[in-house]
Amino acid sequence: MSTTTSTTAAPVASTRVSTSREVAKTLAVTSGKGGVGKTMVTANLAAALAARGQKVLVLDADLGLANLDVVLNLHPKITLHDVFTEKASLEQAILPAPGGFYVLLAGSGMVEYSRLTPEVRDKLLSIIDQVKPRFDWVLLDTGAGISDVVLYAISLATDVLVVATPEPTSLTDAYATIKVLATQQDRRHVGLVVNQATRVGEGKLICGQLQQVLQRFVGPTPGQAFKLELLAEVKSDLSVRQAVLKRQLLLEHFPGSDAAQAIKGLANKLLGNGG
Ligand SMILES: Nc1ncnc2c1ncn2[C@@H]1O[C@H](COP(=O)(O)OP(=O)(O)O)[C@@H](O)[C@H]1O
Ligand SMILES: [Mg+2]
Repeated sequence: MSTTTSTTAAPVASTRVSTSREVAKTLAVTSGKGGVGKTMVTANLAAALAARGQKVLVLDADLGLANLDVVLNLHPKITLHDVFTEKASLEQAILPAPGGFYVLLAGSGMVEYSRLTPEVRDKLLSIIDQVKPRFDWVLLDTGAGISDVVLYAISLATDVLVVATPEPTSLTDAYATIKVLATQQDRRHVGLVVNQATRVGEGKLICGQLQQVLQRFVGPTPGQAFKLELLAEVKSDLSVRQAVLKRQLLLEHFPGSDAAQAIKGLANKLLGNGG
């Protein structure tokens, strides 16, 4: 197995590329239930956006159970932990990843930050503020559920993508998460990725069902209409598991697979939606 050891800082400070946007579009990728494919979707979406000429940063915001480094086969010497404790600069912690995007990795030292303290709040906010002017996209790979630290990380993003699988447990938890986003964060638009779908059309069906239930509690007036938008249906695909086992990006290892195509479609949609 090849190891990509990233010890040097990425040359990201000075120049921005490719778009006229003043600051990055910030997108939180979250889920109700864990293990549904958030990190897989985030990492491959980042690669798909990068392939379209976008400058992308992924922040591993799953502070308690960070594993973006594992998925990308990176062994960072400098992580968010060092930035939090001021042992390293933000610049040093932004590392190039396979797939042509950049990462800010949490690593295993971040467990102590999985509780939302004023320090965690301030640091995360300050980091996002600092990286926004330098990238086209900042993707936050958040933890699952509705803990205060997860909700806070999501609140730092303008847009949210909820990943859910068709399993009833995942759907119930996705519903709970979206409900909290609508009621506590006053969001009126949430993107949905149905991952590990087993038949064509499952995503649309699930999105419709969730939308129907959600409409009941989110204000009925037209100005307040709530929209859950299906942005991708990703099939359950053996290639995904194989890529994870090889610790490689699906988009690099199996670019022609159904799942890779679906994630490229997701990137196209996001770029089409004002990206
Ligand atoms: N579309 C898919 N098809 C098959 N397996 C998948 C798919 N998406 C995710 N998986 C499996 O689920 C596991 C968990 O995915 P991961 O992205 O780590 O979830 P999360 O970040 O939500 O905890 C992956 O390691 C992979 O084996
Ligand atoms: Mg994850």
